[in-house]
Amino acid sequence: MDTLDRKAEEPYEPYAALGLGGPRDTPFVKYKHPRIDNVWALTLTAVLFILLYSAQDVVPVIRLPHDVGSPALPAAEFDWYALETSKEVNWTSCYDGHLCARLLLPLDYLSSDADGPTTAIALRMIPAPSRGTADYRGTVLVNPGGPGGSGTNLVERAGANISRIVGHSFDVLGFDPRGTGASTPRVECFASPGERDIWKTQVGHQFLNASDHTLGIYRAREQVVAAKCEQAIGGELGIARFMSTASVATDMVKITEELGQEKLHYWGFSYGSILGQYFAAMYPDKVARVIIDGVYDGDNYRGALWNSNLADMEAVMDSLFSYCHQAGPLRCALYESTPDKIRDRYFRVLDRLARNPVAVPLAEPPAVLTRKALITQLFASSYKPLASYGTVVDTIRAIETRNQTTLTALARKIVDPTECSCSSGVLPWLAENDAFNAIACGDGEEHPYDPEYYAKYYDALVKDSPHGGPIWAVHYLQCAEWRVRPQWRYTGPLAAADTAHPLLLISPRYDPVCPLRDALAVRERYPGAGLLVQNSHGHCSLSAPSLCTAKHVRAYMEDGTLPEEGTVCEADELPFVGSVSDVRALSVDERELLEAMRGLSAVVPMFGGL
Ligand SMILES: *[C@@H]1O[C@H](CO)[C@@H](O)[C@H](O)[C@H]1NC(C)=O
Ligand SMILES: *[C@@H]1O[C@H](CO)[C@@H](O)[C@H](O)[C@H]1NC(C)=O
Ligand SMILES: *[C@@H]1O[C@H](CO)[C@@H](O)[C@H](O)[C@H]1NC(C)=O
Ligand SMILES: *[C@@H]1O[C@H](CO)[C@@H](O)[C@H](O)[C@H]1NC(C)=O
Repeated sequence: MDTLDRKAEEPYEPYAALGLGGPRDTPFVKYKHPRIDNVWALTLTAVLFILLYSAQDVVPVIRLPHDVGSPALPAAEFDWYALETSKEVNWTSCYDGHLCARLLLPLDYLSSDADGPTTAIALRMIPAPSRGTADYRGTVLVNPGGPGGSGTNLVERAGANISRIVGHSFDVLGFDPRGTGASTPRVECFASPGERDIWKTQVGHQFLNASDHTLGIYRAREQVVAAKCEQAIGGELGIARFMSTASVATDMVKITEELGQEKLHYWGFSYGSILGQYFAAMYPDKVARVIIDGVYDGDNYRGALWNSNLADMEAVMDSLFSYCHQAGPLRCALYESTPDKIRDRYFRVLDRLARNPVAVPLAEPPAVLTRKALITQLFASSYKPLASYGTVVDTIRAIETRNQTTLTALARKIVDPTECSCSSGVLPWLAENDAFNAIACGDGEEHPYDPEYYAKYYDALVKDSPHGGPIWAVHYLQCAEWRVRPQWRYTGPLAAADTAHPLLLISPRYDPVCPLRDALAVRERYPGAGLLVQNSHGHCSLSAPSLCTAKHVRAYMEDGTLPEEGTVCEADELPFVGSVSDVRALSVDERELLEAMRGLSAVVPMFGGL
């Protein structure tokens, strides 16, 4: 298997590396493995702005949840369900200086009945500091991926940082796609969060393998979910029938119009790149700015195939070993004289676990650390190496040294903890839901399960990524068993030659689940679109802070400028290694921008239910 180190010796030619032929004229900037000395050969433009989030004129209205008996409710949590719904956006102050509303939109866009059933879409906005001045340019809608991720929660976790990046001219608005988050009705097939937790723990300690008994178990599990959902939310007016991406793209048109804007400004991550592709294909004349970041091939998505994703997964996993090596023994406790030796050491521990899982009796809840648990940890960490690779190393060290104190503390992070209580206190709008199936499988073409096809499918996926394949292969089964069909599905080409403004695609060079190859394929379908490659490992650009990327995002949003063909942005911080930019050379504003980017590295979008 390739190691990152070997790749670092090679020139950076993504097209060639992917066997896709070269770009027409301008070659990509040559890849150099990030090094401390030459990262800052960039000309830096200082953009001055101050965030005025002081809530002087916006007194937050904090309504306490009705169920004050529930001990886990944070005292200052905003009660979405107490917020009145309305057919026009009616802002209420919420959280700290933010604005919230619940907008009623038609449940069924194919129905001509103006008084027909509606769905309430939750909106949470950080108003632009420039509102009311000549600098104000409108509202950037954001989508955090999933499918099924909550945009209002993205604003909670990362809104201030995103707001700083897009600049003071823009509001940042997170909305919960229909059926998800605080939007109602919710796409919920389980009777309670507790029932869902118990169901999840039953999955056991074995990965899905298409050539052994686990296949039957995984299939039967998806049959259970599909049947429960069909019963709970698949009826005549069941929400699962109205959650297609076509409907969500149309909701974005309505939200934009409600805000008094003709066209959409948008930054979508991961599945948000699918939503962006649908939007641009369905409403090309409504594109003011559309950034899709961490790009999944819309055609593969709509085939409900989920098999173009893992092309670079192993490269991202391997980067743990090369960054560890690059950082040296003081910064990485698994350090060895070569990345390959670190890799061997990691997998030696995993091979031992395969035979002898580690008991962690004092963890709460008690846990057994299996090979599956650790591969899953590495898989999840590959989305956000900067924020998570340290924990992977800590875990391996603790197993090597049999340090129960550390393992007890880490177990909750490794094994999904199930709370032992009937009311877990999770706020209803933050609880897990079944949106992934309803959206992705509903959007997708139907493909009933075929054992021969699936055996080949599984092998090919595992070939792409021996460690990620067994995890990812479940998606195909989810959709093969799914029964509810959407009332409306977009089936036209996921392409547009005539968007009102060109799209901007952003792709990390090595994204574990949205490979650069997909971004290149999508770009061909939206002629004129720009492509910014960020030379980093992780899911979407947010997973690694890059001032260069932030400036391209700002320039595109403000002026519509696309990066030059072949632009590659370096990351300013690497796993284990730490900062690789000379902070002293930065202006105050650049430092703040970088600080905002850092805040995002742990908040990368979800994808595939992670
Ligand atoms: C807007 O919301 C407020 C409460 O937050 C309510 O009193 C008012 O009636 C609403 N207005 C409309 C037009 O719905
Ligand atoms: C699946 O099971 C077969 C047969 O036991 C085994 O040879 C193969 O390595 C397994 N595949 C994976 C990805 O674990
Ligand atoms: C376990 O790890 C912790 C944290 O690194 C350390 O403080 C402690 O001394 C270790 N315990 C043993 C028995 O090595
Ligand atoms: C963004 O994230 C950082 C964490 O790096 C945080 O300290 C900062 O205050 C956040 N907000 C803004 C506006 O950048």
